[in-house]
Amino acid sequence: MSVIIAPSILSADFSRLGEEVAAVDAAGADWIHLDVMDGHFVPNITFGPPVIKAVRGASRKFFDCHLMIEPADPYLKAFADAGADLISVHAEATRHLDRSLQAIRDLGVKAGVALNPATPETAIEYVLDRVDLVLLMTVNPGFGGQAFIPAVVDKVRRVKAMIGNRPIHIEIDGGVTPQTAPLVIEAGADVLVAGSAVFRGGSAVHYAANIAALRSASA
Ligand code: DX5
Ligand code: ZN
Repeated sequence: MSVIIAPSILSADFSRLGEEVAAVDAAGADWIHLDVMDGHFVPNITFGPPVIKAVRGASRKFFDCHLMIEPADPYLKAFADAGADLISVHAEATRHLDRSLQAIRDLGVKAGVALNPATPETAIEYVLDRVDLVLLMTVNPGFGGQAFIPAVVDKVRRVKAMIGNRPIHIEIDGGVTPQTAPLVIEAGADVLVAGSAVFRGGSAVHYAANIAALRSASA
């Protein structure tokens, strides 16, 4: 299975967000990763449904929406309506994880569950039949540009074994570079989120080279 590259627009120029989404699309992104932060579950605030709706027209690529908000349930419909193709909720940020995942699928979008670096994979053992994607954080959520936490590589391997033959993606988020990508690909991941490693350089030429470097490091 070929690796899916999902640039995180957290590292984009927010004053030109639509253009930046179109630029990473043209540069070879497979998915667009949207980091939603509430200043409560994580120590940073980004954007919500209106901004996602506003950039939806800039790309036809799969919109991968990573909610770092607590609670998440009251806002799921707004994110689906804004154009999310997949919504991930953090296991740590919802009281009834099974209910949140059911609610996402009931909205007609794909469902993901995210785990912080310190959360054991057993947290998702009983919801695997309700998810399309498991997002494993390899930094503590809140900011781009942090260093990859190597201890999570072992968790990738364990989650891969738990998933068995179910059609579930394993997505890695945080500190992904051409140096760290091979570690998680080898362990079983198939979706790579990258913010700073894609947007480094600040223009469309750089984005294409940066995405190509991640892809060849993951082959
Ligand atoms: C962090 C976000 C990430 C972030 C990754 O909380 O979930 O998606 O943008 O940024 P880099 O790739 O720079 O570590
Ligand atoms: Zn993310």
